[in-house]
Amino acid sequence: MEITNVSEYDATAKEKLPKMVYDYYASGAEDQWTLQENRNAFSRILFRPRILIDVSKIDLTTTVLGFKISIPIMIAPTARQKMAHPEGEYATARAASAAGTIMILSSRATSSVEEVASTGPGIRFFQLYVYKERNVVAQLVKRAERAGFKAIALTVDNPRLGRREADIKNRFTLPPFLTLKNFEGLDLGKMDKVSSHFNCCNLADNSGLASYVAGQVDPTLSWKVSITSLPILVKGVLTAEDARIAVQAGAAGIIVSNHGARQLDYVPATITALEEVVKAAQGRVSVFLDGGVRRGTDVFKALALGASGILLDDRWCSHWLLREKLV
Ligand code: LAC
Repeated sequence: MEITNVSEYDATAKEKLPKMVYDYYASGAEDQWTLQENRNAFSRILFRPRILIDVSKIDLTTTVLGFKISIPIMIAPTARQKMAHPEGEYATARAASAAGTIMILSSRATSSVEEVASTGPGIRFFQLYVYKERNVVAQLVKRAERAGFKAIALTVDNPRLGRREADIKNRFTLPPFLTLKNFEGLDLGKMDKVSSHFNCCNLADNSGLASYVAGQVDPTLSWKVSITSLPILVKGVLTAEDARIAVQAGAAGIIVSNHGARQLDYVPATITALEEVVKAAQGRVSVFLDGGVRRGTDVFKALALGASGILLDDRWCSHWLLREKLV
C-alpha cells in the first residue's frame, strides 16, 4: 500500500515491528483516553477560511530561540529509536538537518549526544530529566554543551512513569543489543544497578521501564534548577498556573506536552491546553506544542491558537517519514 499520510505509518509499523516495540511506541497510559483525545481535540477544531487572498508566495520559515528553521515543525524527543531501525537517532538527525529543522534528542536515546553530533551539522537541543544524582545531570548537560547542542528541553511530567499497561503485559525491556548511550561512561554511582537492571531484566509485576524511572528520576523536582547557560525549554506544561511559574523561573520557552499521553491519563489534549498557556505566557516566551500532530492542518491549528511551532512526537512520524521523504 502506498503511504500517503503520517497516520498510515502506524499500520506499517505495527506489521514490521516486534509487538513489544510497537506497543511501547504506540501506547499511552491507563485507559489511553488522553491518547485518543490528543487526536480527537484536533478534529473538533474547524477553520473559517477567507477567500481570494494571494497565497502564491508562502514563507514557512520561523525562528526558535534565535535559530532560523525552514518549517514550524521540529522533532520531539522520543526515546529508544534504534528499537525501530538500526540507524535510529542518526537517521532522525540527518532527516531533521535535511529538512532544515531542529531535532531534540532524548536523553534516553540509543545514540549519544556525541554520536548524533557526528552525523553532521544541524541545530539540536537535548532533552533531559532531572535525576536523583545531580552529578549525572551536570555531566549530561556538559556533554550536550560540548557536542554543540543549543538548548535543553527539561521534561517535568515524569516524577513517576505513567502506567502503560501494554508495557507491563509485555514486560517491556530494552533489547540486549542496545544501550541508553548517553549514560555510557558517566559516573553513575548508585544508578549503576538500576540501569543494568533496566537493560536486561524485568520485575514480575511491572515493566522494566517503570522500575528504571522509579529508581533514577527525582520525584522531588521543583522549580529551583540552574546548572547551564543554555536556554531551557520547560516541557510538560498544561496549565496557565505552571506557565506563569515557568516564565518567572526564567524558562526560555514552554512546550505544552502531555508526554504523548504516556504519563498522566485524563489530562486534556495539548491543543486544548494550548490557549491558556499562550495567554499566561503573555508573549514573554515562545510556546510550542507536541502530541497528536499528524497533518499540516493540525500544525496550522496550533499556530492559529498561538503556538510558535510544533514538535512531532511519533517515532514513525519523525523517524520514518522524514527519513523516507527528505533524506
Ligand atoms: C517514555 C520515556 C519516559 O517512554 O522514556 O515516554
